[in-house]
Amino acid sequence: MVGDFSQDGKFNMTTQDRSRWNVKYRTEAHPSEAAHVVKKFYRLAPAKKALDIAAGNGRHSVFLARMGFTVDAVDISEVGLSQFADIHPGIRAFCADLDQYEIPASHYDLIINVKFLNRRLNPYIREGLRPGGTLIFHSLLDEGPTKRQATHCRDYLLRRNELLHAFIDMRIVYYREGADPDDDKKDEMATLVAIR
Ligand SMILES: C[S@@+](CC[C@H](N)C(=O)[O-])C[C@H]1O[C@@H](n2cnc3c(N)ncnc32)[C@H](O)[C@@H]1O
Repeated sequence: MVGDFSQDGKFNMTTQDRSRWNVKYRTEAHPSEAAHVVKKFYRLAPAKKALDIAAGNGRHSVFLARMGFTVDAVDISEVGLSQFADIHPGIRAFCADLDQYEIPASHYDLIINVKFLNRRLNPYIREGLRPGGTLIFHSLLDEGPTKRQATHCRDYLLRRNELLHAFIDMRIVYYREGADPDDDKKDEMATLVAIR
């Protein structure tokens, strides 16, 4: 079941984003395999409570649930969420607008944020981890093929070294900027793994 969730009790979704992503999940194929970096680093989490930010079609939530995690999966698209919400009992999928959402403090052993960027969330992400908790952040850079195509949505793209600076007060375990190993289009991505 997909829960509909709004922290102030009002219906305050970013309607345009929601409709656009609902159409995408109804009409387009999306990768079902978890990103390489998630598979490589999830074991760093000290225990098994995870948050999947902008969970999409649930490829990471399902992977983590199968690895024994209890996963909170949040996204604005109830169509995306409905594609995986009932696949595993370890997943709690809920619909929320991440422009408004506040991650509960010291709550998670693992937070993953893949192919999504909302800079407002960065402090909540850090605080949402329990001490020793792990962050895996993997998102598009404003470089390479993406830069040429995405002149209209620069706000959703990372600048060089931005991710590193955003989480520099954590223990950085891994940082890389470069072609996406999971994608034939070879978008340029920034990837950070860090421990609170
Ligand atoms: C590129 S997809 C990435 C999905 C997933 N993380 C993955 O790697 O497969 C971006 C996701 O962000 C979600 N999204 C966009 N705007 C959002 C918002 N304001 N609040 C919550 N989710 C949002 C979309 O519905 C979509 O599922």
